[in-house]
Parts: sequence; structure tokens; C-alpha cells
Amino acid sequence: MKTDNWLQHSVVYQIYPRSFKDSDGNGVGDLQGIIDKLDYLHDGTLNSLGIDAIWISPFYPSPMADFGYDVSDYCDVDPLFGDLVTFDRLVAEAHRRGIKIIIDYVPNHTSDQHPWFIESCSSRDNPKRDWYIWWDAKPDGSLPNNWGAVLGGPAWTWDEKTGQYYLHQFLKEQPELNWRNRDVRNAMLDVLHFWLRRGVDGFRMDVIAFLLKDPELRDNLPNPAANPNLHPDDIYGRQLHVYNEDLDEMSEVIREIRKVLDQYDARIGIGEVWYELDRWVRYFGPNGDGLHMPFNFKLMQKPWSAASIRETVESLESALPTFGWPNYGLGNHDYPRLASRIGQAQARVAAMLLLTLRGTPTLYDGDELGLENGIITPDQVQDPQGILLGAERTRDVARTPMQWDRMPHAGFSRAEPWLPISDDYQRRNVEAESKDPASVMNLYRTLVWLRRQTPTLQKGSYRTLVQNSGDCYCYIRSHEGEDLLIALNFTHKPHEIDLNPLKEGNIILSTHMDHSGPISLSPLLLRTDEGLLIKL
Ligand code: NOJ
Repeated sequence: MKTDNWLQHSVVYQIYPRSFKDSDGNGVGDLQGIIDKLDYLHDGTLNSLGIDAIWISPFYPSPMADFGYDVSDYCDVDPLFGDLVTFDRLVAEAHRRGIKIIIDYVPNHTSDQHPWFIESCSSRDNPKRDWYIWWDAKPDGSLPNNWGAVLGGPAWTWDEKTGQYYLHQFLKEQPELNWRNRDVRNAMLDVLHFWLRRGVDGFRMDVIAFLLKDPELRDNLPNPAANPNLHPDDIYGRQLHVYNEDLDEMSEVIREIRKVLDQYDARIGIGEVWYELDRWVRYFGPNGDGLHMPFNFKLMQKPWSAASIRETVESLESALPTFGWPNYGLGNHDYPRLASRIGQAQARVAAMLLLTLRGTPTLYDGDELGLENGIITPDQVQDPQGILLGAERTRDVARTPMQWDRMPHAGFSRAEPWLPISDDYQRRNVEAESKDPASVMNLYRTLVWLRRQTPTLQKGSYRTLVQNSGDCYCYIRSHEGEDLLIALNFTHKPHEIDLNPLKEGNIILSTHMDHSGPISLSPLLLRTDEGLLIKL
């Protein structure tokens, strides 16, 4: 693995295409909408956000049972989002601005409307039968094993016509491909070639660790630590996932995928991998011949306190293999919004954390505006997880449309959007925040550009600074004689921290965006909810 791959000095921005920008007035975002907003993302000047790469969630033909994560044709664009010509234009327009394109690859399951599955269902001796995971009922007619589906209910559905169950660990509309079948593998590797030849720079690989399952499909074990208040249909949430995912053999499949990427120049693989660190690091491959970046969910999952976040960063730093590289994200389309999880004031501290740590940052669209969870009434729920596991589990809250301006529908669309626009759109939108020098959007923009222009932030080493205030987290990034101190106050109270023997430094940026210049470090005064970036 080349250690200096472009991902290491990039800021990635995730676009959920349904909700980013609608160009044709049907209430759903599309590829042309993304093209129209590329200048917002990076126009080469400090007026734009300055990101380096966009990861676009699925835009392939799909019945949309899971809003695109149920693909019925891997090599086309759903008419809702555009067509291949528009996609090619998006790649060209992005590349012209120096923006890389990462697309979502959904290898674990297809849609139940994919021609492969329709064939597979047609008879037990169809050549595509073995492309999916079919299993007999137990002698008493019950399910083949106890596995639950992540989005709710059991992981098996009975097919009346051919008298067998098929496996689906998400929705019944998402039957799982059999990656132990050589033809399936070849077909799915061909999909990578198709998009690599079209010029994409990389893939985010959906639930990559699920591709292989226990050959005997043994029962998972109960999880004694499971939350007792889980929805009755959350079978998956009550189990230890010993046999259905994250098998040791996965490294071999990932190596095969990596070999495809390596046939092209500078293409990267990011994987959705959510395990504890000892298992997570394995996805870099034993010799760095696996994923370039197993996506790190820890900042979304751990409690928001100075101690827990420091511990999260330190354990990642010490678990990484020499060829590994850290990465962090604060939100995505499956988690509640950052600003609702930790509050608006701390969301600014989180922005400074994300963009000053050692490791590739991934931003989720809308977080740079401080978007909060959308208000979705039970009758407005669209996400299947919210339908199957209760409205309080709906992921729709993080998928409400991007807020561009104060016009009707927040400038997202001419028509009623597929999910309601949040009530705060008249003040929380790109146009209004661009005019406010202290807005959270301007904080993100400033941090992204500082990172771009500061090698110490991009590639400097990381060192925790031990200090006597447990409510603050301080660390130093160092590179070629430059030391930058980052001091973050995780509370709504001011704090004095004694950083002796450090005496003084120069503030480069405060998350309050109201002062810079010399500051004493013994002690350092951090105001309420303040993060400081200080040159030593
Ligand atoms: C993970 C995706 O992020 C999520 O949105 C989707 O429902 C599942 N994988 C299934 O594809």
C-alpha cells in the first residue's frame, strides 16, 4: 500500500443525493443538483467549503425500499437521479475543480427486483439459484437459524414457489448475494471495473464485513448486554454477531477487491466497518493490502465527554498498524444529527476536533450548517427502519433536505420535498450563514481551509497533553518543528487549565470566531464551549 494515498490528506464530504439539491423539480435531489452545487463545495477559493472528495450515497436504479441501498442494476443511474451522461458530466465537473468522486458500492445484497434475484427465484435448478443464499426450513418448518435483520425482524423470508427460505440481513427486499460463488464474485468485481473505467476515484463499500457468512449458518448467541428496552422485533440487536458477519475469511475477499482497485491509478476503498478496534484494524489487510480506510464510527458512538473522546482517539492511535491511517466522522445518513446529539454549542467544538485530529475527516452534508434532527411525525416516516422498529428509530431525521436559502422549500426544490424541510430553514441555510462571519458554516470553512494550508494539521504527529482539567481535552500536532495545540472545552462552563511548562502561544482560531493573537498558557482560559487552535 502506498502510504501517501490522496485520501490521507483529504477532507471527504458525504452527499445523500435524495436530499442535497433537486434540479428538476420532483422533490428529490439528483446528480444535476450536485453538479449545480459543486462550486459551493470547492471553487478553488476560500469562499467555498474547500473539501477534496465527495462520497455520494447510492444513485443506481432501485425500487427504493431502502432508498437506494436496494440496487436493481449496478451499472446505471436511476431516472430519479439522472442518467449515465449526467454522471459522466459530474465526474468531469468535479475533477475540473480538483474534487475526487467516491461512490457507494453495495455488494452484500441486491434488490429483490434485480434480474439476478428474479432468475434465482424462478426454480431450484436455475443457474442463478446459488447466487443468493437459499436454505431449507428446519424439519418443523421453522426458520433455518435465529439470525435477525439489522432493520428489524428475522433475516429469512419463505419463498412459496420454490419451498425454501432466502437470507436478507437488512430488508426482505434486499436478498443477500452468495460471495462464495465464483460467478457472483466475478460479476461484482466487474461492477467495480465498470465505474473505475468511468473515472471514479474510489468506493465506499456498504456493510463490507457481511459478505461472507458461516458456511453452516449456525445460530448466533444471545447478547447478555443487550438493551432490555429494544423493540420486540429487534432480533439483531439482541444477538452477538458471531456467525453472520465479520468472519476471519473476509480478508481474502477484501484483498481481491483491492487487487481490482490497484489495476488503476490512485483509486481507493473505504469500507463500512463498525467493530471494536481489534477487529476493525484487520480491514487494512495484514500487509496494508486491504481497505485504504475502514470507516471509523467511534466519534458517533461514544459518549460526548472529554475523557471518552480522548480515550477513543488514543486507543485508535495505538491500535493502528504501521501502514494504517486514522479517520473520523461525526455523522452520516444512519445516525441522528450531530447538533441534536450534542447540542449546537458543542457541535462547534466537535468541528474543531474533527478537522484538527490526525486522520481523514468525513463531513456529512448539512452538519456544516448545524442542521438538527428533522421533525418527522409518525405518519411522515419513510425509512423502513422507522416503520419496522418504531418511529423513534427512523433515520429520516438525518435525511431532511439541505437548506440552501430562505426561499420556499429552502432552495432545495421547486416542489414539495420528499421529506419535510426543517422549520429553522429561514435562518439556518447556506446563504444566511455565508453572511454571518461567526456561523457554524464559516467555522467549518475556516477549519477546512486551515487544514488544507497547514501540513502540520494534515500529516503532523499526534500527542495527548495531560492537563488537570478533566472537562477539557488538549493535544498537540507536530510537524517539521511546528507545534499546534488544540484545547477543547467539553462543557458549558469556563475552565482554566494549567499547561505549565508551556508559557504562551498564538491563537489561530477560536470556535467562537471572535479573537486571535497571543494568549497565556499558564493557565489557559477556555471559555464556555470553546475550542482553541493555538500555535506554540
Ligand atoms: C448501511 C447503509 O449506510 C444503510 O443506510 C443501509 O440501510 C444498510 N447499509 C443496508 O444497505
